[in-house]
Amino acid sequence: MRPQDNTECLNAGDPRVARRVRHPLRELVQRARDPEWVVDTALRFVAYSWDRVSPSEFSSLYRRIRTRTMCSNARLRGLYHGVRTVVKNQIPGDFVECGTALGGSAALMALTLRQLGVRRKLWVFDTFEGLPAPTPEDPDFEVANLFAGTCIGTLEEVQSLFTQLQVRDQVQFVKGLFQDTLPTVDISQIALLHIDGDWYDSVKTCLDSLYDKVAPGGIIQFDDYGYWKGARKAVDEFLAARRIRAPLKKLDHSGRFLVKPLSSSEP
Ligand SMILES: C[S@@+](CC[C@H](N)C(=O)[O-])C[C@H]1O[C@@H](n2cnc3c(N)ncnc32)[C@H](O)[C@@H]1O
Repeated sequence: MRPQDNTECLNAGDPRVARRVRHPLRELVQRARDPEWVVDTALRFVAYSWDRVSPSEFSSLYRRIRTRTMCSNARLRGLYHGVRTVVKNQIPGDFVECGTALGGSAALMALTLRQLGVRRKLWVFDTFEGLPAPTPEDPDFEVANLFAGTCIGTLEEVQSLFTQLQVRDQVQFVKGLFQDTLPTVDISQIALLHIDGDWYDSVKTCLDSLYDKVAPGGIIQFDDYGYWKGARKAVDEFLAARRIRAPLKKLDHSGRFLVKPLSSSEP
């Protein structure tokens, strides 16, 4: 997630905008020290402009959800291709998103499934009350903590988006902290898992609870790997502990995805 992009999904005057404007300068100063971030930001603008007018199938779906997402176009495109790839390769299982906010990226997954004529279950997990606080396990805790309570999309708002887009049947919304909800849900297999929970604990919980349910050949996409240090730490620790050598493929400065290998020793 790129929190500085959030304003695009909110109406002027929305109190959630006011909550965020307290800290962008401090964050911007930190981010702008990274030349890769600066280049990525410029590229994002190009992709964003292109997808506003392009007649491609992805761009057409993107325009339906763009005001409801904080994910970059490259990462949304990654999700779009991920959904198409697992369906084409007949990878069994449900589709899961952990970290939904206003619902845009999950709705894109649902629209892509509908475009393919595929009816599979989509699970959507969130507090629907905004980001919980990070923990000292997040190396950038000081800046991250400024975002606690932001990124709020209520359950009603997200459900109404899915209704409006006519993709609500097949979707299971689960409200609560991942730490409480994920260990209790009845998901037997996952074809594609989108993890967009920003913090160390959130990403670690998703991997601990759901990685083993992802079918071999299934895809796990990480939104925050290059952006929030805790998210990267959770992914790196998990892959190292499990000796997973499959490459993390880069979508943009922040986004990565992994195709789950058949066995942990297989690269
Ligand atoms: C960056 S936003 C998700 C953005 C969304 N994918 C989009 O398309 O804009 C991160 C979301 O993760 C949720 N989240 C983070 N940690 C969580 C946790 N431990 N339990 C439940 N939800 C969590 C937050 O509530 C927030 O809505």
